[in-house]
Amino acid sequence: MVGPLEAGMMRVHAELDSALHDHQVALLDRDPARARRTFAEFAAKLREHIADEETHILPAYAQLGGDASNSPASQFEVEHRKLLAFVVECEQRLAQLGTAPGDRPILELLDRQSWFKSLMQHHDIREGRVLYRLFSDRLPHADQELILARCVSAR
Ligand SMILES: [Fe+2]
Ligand SMILES: [Fe+2]
Repeated sequence: MVGPLEAGMMRVHAELDSALHDHQVALLDRDPARARRTFAEFAAKLREHIADEETHILPAYAQLGGDASNSPASQFEVEHRKLLAFVVECEQRLAQLGTAPGDRPILELLDRQSWFKSLMQHHDIREGRVLYRLFSDRLPHADQELILARCVSAR
């Protein structure tokens, strides 16, 4: 059964997907200002969500026995570093957007983001199936609610 923490954080993942989608629509519209603004919104939410997971979720996951599984907390942290490094790369590319003529910079960004989207999808699926599933299976709902209430990204 899906517990409140799993449900709440899966909703955050869906919101992140939707924020990235809005940004890509702005890229397709060749609107650099809107592309930068929508990416900034996505990046802020992703950073907030990762901070929530590393502060409130992964330590509790390790305590619940997650570190004894094939997916220890450290593995999720490694993936977070990759996601965050990509966000910085994207911010740098977006800062240059509109300074050179032609569509090549936009197409390059979309190519890089397609790689990033599969990384994020893989990460989100593993969090759903392994990380948050462990909370659903092992932690009483009231305790899950307490953790969820501390997560800024889920508000
Ligand atoms: Fe994560
Ligand atoms: Fe997550």
